[in-house]
Amino acid sequence: ANNRTFTMIKPDAFGAGNSGAILKMIEEAGFKIVAMKATKLSPEMAGKFYEVHSERPFYAALCAYMSSGPILPVILEKDNAVEDFRKLIGATNPADAAEGTIRKIFATSIEANAVHGSDSDENAAIEGNFFFSQFERVL
Ligand code: CMP
Repeated sequence: ANNRTFTMIKPDAFGAGNSGAILKMIEEAGFKIVAMKATKLSPEMAGKFYEVHSERPFYAALCAYMSSGPILPVILEKDNAVEDFRKLIGATNPADAAEGTIRKIFATSIEANAVHGSDSDENAAIEGNFFFSQFERVL
């Protein structure tokens, strides 16, 4: 559905206790929570989630980092969700992220960049289905 996107609060932001503040920004921007849980990825599951990046030089470090602590996967709903959410989080590298964006405020590095945001409607559906069954989400 092109009114949904998928995000994860990553181990850096979760571990720092910033989940509540980030979710507040997300809700104030008009997104509704459709599914959410706290969980932890094994290195193998992180590798599956980021399979599209498997040829990148940062892949091994990314999988180690993403399995280093708890995360908060969330499915979100809003008109134009994918594009609007990417605006709200800002650029991948917090050094390039616009003022007031979630990554500008909470990210510590290009890897530990606080939150994920799906890059397309197709990937939003794939990524949401990776974490949540049909019984774990608002229909
Ligand atoms: P995200 O866009 O959510 O998904 C891919 C992740 O890979 C990205 O966030 C960063 O956490 C990480 N990443 C992307 N580019 C780099 C890079 N150049 N160096 C290290 N990590 C990166």
